[in-house]
Amino acid sequence: MANKLWYSRAIAAVATGALAVTLAACGGEGAGGGSGAGDDAGAEEGGLVGVAMPTETSERWIADGAAVEEGLEAAGYEVDLQFAGDDIPTQQQQIDAMINAGAEALIIAAIDGTTLTGQLEAAAAQDIPVISYDRLIRDSEDVDFYVSFDNFQVGVAQANALLNGLGLVDEEGEPVEDAPEGPFNVELFAGSLDDNNAHFFWDGAMSVLEPLIDDGTLVVPSEQTDIDQAATQRWLQENAQSRMEDLLTAHYDGNEQVDGVLSPYDGLSRGIIEALRSAGYEDDAMPVITGQDAEIASVKLIADGVQDSTIFKDTRLLADQAVTAAEALLAGEEPEANNTTDYDNGLKVVPSYLLPVVTVYADNIESELVDSGYWTAEEVESGVADTE
Ligand code: BGC
Repeated sequence: MANKLWYSRAIAAVATGALAVTLAACGGEGAGGGSGAGDDAGAEEGGLVGVAMPTETSERWIADGAAVEEGLEAAGYEVDLQFAGDDIPTQQQQIDAMINAGAEALIIAAIDGTTLTGQLEAAAAQDIPVISYDRLIRDSEDVDFYVSFDNFQVGVAQANALLNGLGLVDEEGEPVEDAPEGPFNVELFAGSLDDNNAHFFWDGAMSVLEPLIDDGTLVVPSEQTDIDQAATQRWLQENAQSRMEDLLTAHYDGNEQVDGVLSPYDGLSRGIIEALRSAGYEDDAMPVITGQDAEIASVKLIADGVQDSTIFKDTRLLADQAVTAAEALLAGEEPEANNTTDYDNGLKVVPSYLLPVVTVYADNIESELVDSGYWTAEEVESGVADTE
């Protein structure tokens, strides 16, 4: 995978250990100010850091896990990296085991953001700092820091990409002159309700789409406009595919066409595309379909004109933020936050560092994904990650 290689190259280039500074220079964006704070803190002790990731069924989490592990190791830590196969008890046991093994810090991307209270209590009792990685851990006082992307903005960007594909706004989300009047038939998908992010994505998207549903520019033939109706349990492709099949059967007769689908994640988009193909939609006449994560199979679908867009979240930068935050916490310092208001987990507002996101269409795959080394041109061409 290109990003893994990129990371290895970056690390090889920094034998001196000025990791944060170099990553900031390579990645461009927000590496905690690139201060290198805590570069030496804890490193000489080589303490153990536990890294808990949700699943390996989505390539973004594999890339996240690898990047966090490499960043921590380069900073002198030992790493226990675990994936939980999207099984909540497994993730709980993995975190228990990390604590028992003497982890000095935990970096956790939760499967279900509400199920780790017991683990976090145990961590707090031993003064083990906890960083919530990309998905906010809810209902616990014991979350020290949150690193993620601007999740509301992800939803706004997805909705704008949908409208852009329908010819209603430009790539900046500004209304275009002589836009078609519509109405356009759209269907809406949300993520897994136990993932805090799913709500931010939905709220961001609906802040853009709702006025257009209200004024009749967009029509949702299924009338499923609540997040509970649109949700996709566990973010699974097959769940999105079967819901799309049901929607097509129940609400689209021979004359009705789907013009657009709001999809919050590339895996779901691929399930939606499969359902549409089975219903007779040709690849060159698909509705406008959005996505998220720039997964390689979907980047190829975008290059081929089947899927319209995805939201690129550079997991290398997120991993770097997590490493920087862990170093700060282990040095007894507060990590640098750029948001201290929006991420209330039910018991506290968790200080956060949010990274920006980029909308990728066919015309900027090369500039955003290939030139930055996230995917190689060969990977985009084949649609398969090079795992060497
Ligand atoms: C992440 C998304 C991802 C989704 C499914 C969310 O929490 O923020 O990037 O697409 O989970 O894995």
